[in-house]
Amino acid sequence: MKKSNIFLTLAIASSCMMAVGCGSKAAATATTAAATTAAAETTTAAANNADIPADAVTATGSAKGMDGDVTVEVTLTKDKIYSVKVTDQHETEGIGTKAVEQMPPKMVEGNTIKVDTVSGATVTSTAILEAVKSAIKAAGFDPASFENDVAAGEKAADETLDTDVVIVGAGGAGMTAAIEAADAGKNVVLLESQTMVGGNSIRATGGMNAAKTKYQDENEFGEEAGVEKTLKTARETYKDNADIQALADTVEKQWKEYQAKKEGYFDSVELFQLDTMIGGKGLNNITLVKTLTENSAAGIDWLESIGATCHNVGSFGGASVKRIHRPVNAEGKTTAVGAYIVPILEENVNKRKNIQVLFSTTADKILTDDKGNATGVHATGETGNNVTVNASSVVLTTGGFGANLDKVVEYKPDLKGFMTTNAAGAQGQGIDMATAVGAATVDMDQIQIHPTVEADSAHLITEGLRGDGAILVNADGKRFIDEVGTRDVVSAAEIAQPGSYSWLIIDQKMVDASSVIQGYIKAGYTKQGDDYKALAKELGVDEDTFDKTMNTWNGYVKDKKDPDFNRTSFAAPLDQAPYYAIKVTAGIHHTMGGVKINENTEVLKDDNTAIGNLYAAGEVTGGVHGANRLGGNAVADFTVFGRIAGQNAAKNVK
Ligand code: SIN
Repeated sequence: MKKSNIFLTLAIASSCMMAVGCGSKAAATATTAAATTAAAETTTAAANNADIPADAVTATGSAKGMDGDVTVEVTLTKDKIYSVKVTDQHETEGIGTKAVEQMPPKMVEGNTIKVDTVSGATVTSTAILEAVKSAIKAAGFDPASFENDVAAGEKAADETLDTDVVIVGAGGAGMTAAIEAADAGKNVVLLESQTMVGGNSIRATGGMNAAKTKYQDENEFGEEAGVEKTLKTARETYKDNADIQALADTVEKQWKEYQAKKEGYFDSVELFQLDTMIGGKGLNNITLVKTLTENSAAGIDWLESIGATCHNVGSFGGASVKRIHRPVNAEGKTTAVGAYIVPILEENVNKRKNIQVLFSTTADKILTDDKGNATGVHATGETGNNVTVNASSVVLTTGGFGANLDKVVEYKPDLKGFMTTNAAGAQGQGIDMATAVGAATVDMDQIQIHPTVEADSAHLITEGLRGDGAILVNADGKRFIDEVGTRDVVSAAEIAQPGSYSWLIIDQKMVDASSVIQGYIKAGYTKQGDDYKALAKELGVDEDTFDKTMNTWNGYVKDKKDPDFNRTSFAAPLDQAPYYAIKVTAGIHHTMGGVKINENTEVLKDDNTAIGNLYAAGEVTGGVHGANRLGGNAVADFTVFGRIAGQNAAKNVK
């Protein structure tokens, strides 16, 4: 969800002074304008706020952020910044908006533009800084004279907290676990290494997979063509996997019964299990897959109970039926799931008086008693001070290691040089902390690449676009794969194309239905053409070949049959001009491996015994997704296992 036109009033100034243009050319105009209008304007300013001297100047500046221009208004004299306001921005809610909230007051307080960028929001932070510099120049001053170091603060005192449950990591799993433990009546301390909540969860765009929900039945029979394809794959590719064969037997029976009646929309918990197992190439822990899928519909209901409704059901890679649940904004357009759910989780955390959140506090050690049971954690606070939290239960929800490129390459050398879609905090520190107290790990070399990462910015372009009808074409203007296949397969096919990239093609209909796509356009990720040939020309691909590809595809959509790549999910033809293309390539997206857990989220040792009082949920764990996670299963994972971890950590408190 994006927020536009935030007018953040910070520190002292209000609507005062004369606004001038941005950039150095504008600065000259500004000086002239100041000379002619300053008297009247400054009088108003002085009347509004006595702290701002009459010779202060207000100027605006803009710079390109993640999703369009960030505009600021700065009020200053030659040696003092009185106010910095962000007057227009379209940054990602909960990520970029954190930089919008945090950086301007620091500039005013420290009287410097040399403030820390907000980790995880580097592009927005840089845009704010550049826009402020531009405004300072426009006001006729030198930005370099405001680049003073902020005086280093005092090191805070060491502190020790005693609580029932300590949770490490305030992403989706951590906040979910905190809410559940708090609702069970326990006191919770939630530690977060970054300055904001959300972790990788806030970047989740697609939605949440769940089977047998009330919302699936709103779809029509006839959209389940993927079931037979999945059964065929199960029988042919996984004939030696007993778990997959048992699931295929059950699903085949359910499918036959359903076809006789054709009532409602077909899905089943077992089909969700089968899809997840096939997606994970059979490497998944079947018990964890059962836990994930059996509790998924309840997860959708729980999210709704705390204010997060995901009722738009769509197609996603590797799912035989429509199963991904997405939020919809006030204009009825589908919107990014993480940016929608994370602020709601945060709001729920904040309103529970028995949850204390400590930001910029990095846990580095699990404390144990002489029997090896967890008794709390040690962390380092923002100023380097020691923070010790003693607790009856410890929950690790620190996320994976997709932002730690050294660790990624250590486990999978082929991924050297790949971009990552991950948040800065995904360093794998929770895995190191757990193994230091004897935890086992599983599948550490299973690292997922996502095929549609914007080629210049590493911004994730959601798989939902393909589920909703987009196709991929290569540099020759040709399709090359079933676009709604699993990510590993689509990524491998894309890497094999000329230049190892592709163009994701969408039409105006899709743009009209999705605020996410509108954000991509605003961010400058798209190229555009009024017809297929015009778009091809923009992309530098052969016009006739591309035109033929598009017309052929639209025919396949009409017939609901793809003889080239056997795609089974079609949505609508791409036939409403103008047409758009985004250049995409493969990037590191999810680390499937991690700490070994059981279905109760207890952390296990190599001999499968549990480490006392220690729980883990979300991307820090391994085993749920096997060799490849299905899109939509990360949100399901953090919701289902986050809830279980919170409930069990609470029950464990004596
Ligand atoms: C996407 O929207 O493509 C990512 C969703 C996911 O990884 O689950």
